[in-house]
Formats: sequence, structure tokens, C-alpha cells
Amino acid sequence: MSDKTRDPKGRRRVVKFSFYRVDPAWRALPSSERECGTRAVSDTVQAFSDRLQIRSYSLVGTRGDADLLLWQIGDELEDIQQLASFINGTPMGPYLTMPYSYLAMTRPSIYVSREEGRGERLELHPGDSKYLFVYPFVKTREWYQLSLDQRQKMMDEHIRIGRKYPSVKLNTTYSFGLDDQEFVVSFETDEPADFLDLVMELREAKTSLYTLRDTPIFSCIAMGLKETLDSLTGAHEERSTQAVENAWQKVADASALPPGSSRVVYYRGDQVAIFNVGGEIRAISNRCSHANGSLAEGTVEDGSVICPSHRSRFDLTTGEPLEGPAARPLRTYSVRLEHDVVLLGPSTA
Ligand code: FES
Repeated sequence: MSDKTRDPKGRRRVVKFSFYRVDPAWRALPSSERECGTRAVSDTVQAFSDRLQIRSYSLVGTRGDADLLLWQIGDELEDIQQLASFINGTPMGPYLTMPYSYLAMTRPSIYVSREEGRGERLELHPGDSKYLFVYPFVKTREWYQLSLDQRQKMMDEHIRIGRKYPSVKLNTTYSFGLDDQEFVVSFETDEPADFLDLVMELREAKTSLYTLRDTPIFSCIAMGLKETLDSLTGAHEERSTQAVENAWQKVADASALPPGSSRVVYYRGDQVAIFNVGGEIRAISNRCSHANGSLAEGTVEDGSVICPSHRSRFDLTTGEPLEGPAARPLRTYSVRLEHDVVLLGPSTA
């Protein structure tokens, strides 16, 4: 995320959650057309990175009516509008709809947290968690008729429960008058089970009596934009039926992977980063076990790859984490070269 997108004056930020759905016809297009479309979307999003913080998430497999989320934070509503319009203008645009769209802003909370005082949530700083859970939220009108003191007492309980789950980070944004909901809440975590337990426990809190609506709920998996777009199809064109039945599968042409280069391929549904290290091809699961950073964009050094997100280092032979915040090993894959063809075989770890 660019520092240029952070507002040093702490002004209110505009926040947009755009959930896109991809027409199934997109998946039937030739891979060259899809690649051209996804590249245009990636380039468009990239072109806005000096004006908007943009995080991408895949919902493929977690939600039936939306496929990807672009979470945007910026200063001007017009930038958000322009980005949507430019995406519509890409070759992928005719295949995209936005079934869910939530507009909000940051603002200070009126409730006081004992530990932090009154909330000053003018800035939003998305972390690097693997998962994001998002939902629009509306309270009953009775809630607003209670005195601030009564509401604060109930919020104290709510805040106390939240503090029991430090692995879950809450971002509250406000939509009053801007959009249909009153709030959009998003929870970042690496531990979905903690989020589930938190939400269950909050149902017993008094504040829950005053919830009018808190659906639909979106479970989103953090990925780089390219991987998010790739997740729409799983790059299945690279796999023939016969290849899937065999252990070895063609994933790339060796001539397209010169020494020092890398790329993302798919092997039996796994997203795999392959590297040409001095003429030798190495293959490791592409998603960093810390927070899903794309290792294909990492740096290769001394037989290991360094994640571009927070510099976890993984051994390319064993997949073991060698340094940095990642604790879990990654899968590595057997590689065979046949003439100009790179074949991947079963995982070696
Ligand atoms: S995503 Fe954090 S180190 Fe890789």
C-alpha cells in the first residue's frame, strides 16, 4: 500500500466495498482473451494506486453471488467512481456486475473505550490478515432513542467482549445518509474460528437486541489482484482431462521462463510459484503461509524465496520457513523438464 495514499492530516476517508460477480461466460473464453481482460483490470487498478488504497479479495468458493472484492480507501468520491467506470471499460467489463456495493466514511466513534478513550477512527489501516469478514449493519431506531449513557454502558460490554479476541481486528465505517446501511463493519483476522466465536458471544450482549440487520455477510480471502482474478478460473486451460489423471502435468513452456524469472501456474488446483534459478526450475506453493503474499513476486536468494509482503523466507527445496513471521511450511513440487515443457509432479513435502 502506498504511503501516498495515507492522509497525514488525519482527514475523513471515503471507503468503498465493491463486490464483483463474474459472468460464467467469462470462464468459457479462450485463455488469451481472459488474460487480456484481467491484465487490463490489473493495470487499471494499479493506475489508481496513487489515489486509492486498494485491497483485493477472492470470494470464489466462499459465497455464491459474488466472486471478488475491491476494498478501496481514498479522499475523493470521484476517484472511486472513476475506478469503477474504468474497470467497466476494460475488455472484462461486459462480464462484470456489482451485486453488492457499500459506500462509507471514517469518523470518530462517539463511544469511549476505557483503554483508548474516544475513538479517533479517521484513518483506516488495513493489516495483512489472510481473511476479511464484511457486512453492512443497521441498528433499530430505538437504539438512537436511548441516552448516550445507556448506550455507552451497553457498548462497554460489547468492547469488553471484543477485547477477548485480540486476533480479530475490527474496522467500523459509517454510511448514514450515504448508502442504505448505517455502518459497514469489516473484521480482519488469520483465525476464522476466533471471529466465529466472537460473533456468537456478541449475540448474547445487550447491544444485539438493537440490531435490525447485519447481513449479507461476506467471507473474503486476501490475495494479490492477479491471484484474485486468476482464482475466477483456476487457469484450467493448462490442464487437459488426461493430464489431470496423470501425476505429471504440463504447466509452462520452459522458453517462457528464462533464468531469473518466475510465474504463477496451477497444478491440480494449487496455485504454484515456479522459478528459474540459474537454469534449474523450482516450484513452491505461491501463497505465503503468513498472510497469502504472492511468492512468485518475491526475491530468490541462496536457494530460498523471500516473500515480498513481510520478508518471510522459505527454503525452495523443503518449503520450510527460515526467517520472518511465517511459521508454517509450504508445499514444494517435483519438477521435470521434457524438451521445452515444464512438468510438475506431486508435492515433495
Ligand atoms: S505474507 Fe507476510 S511474510 Fe508473506
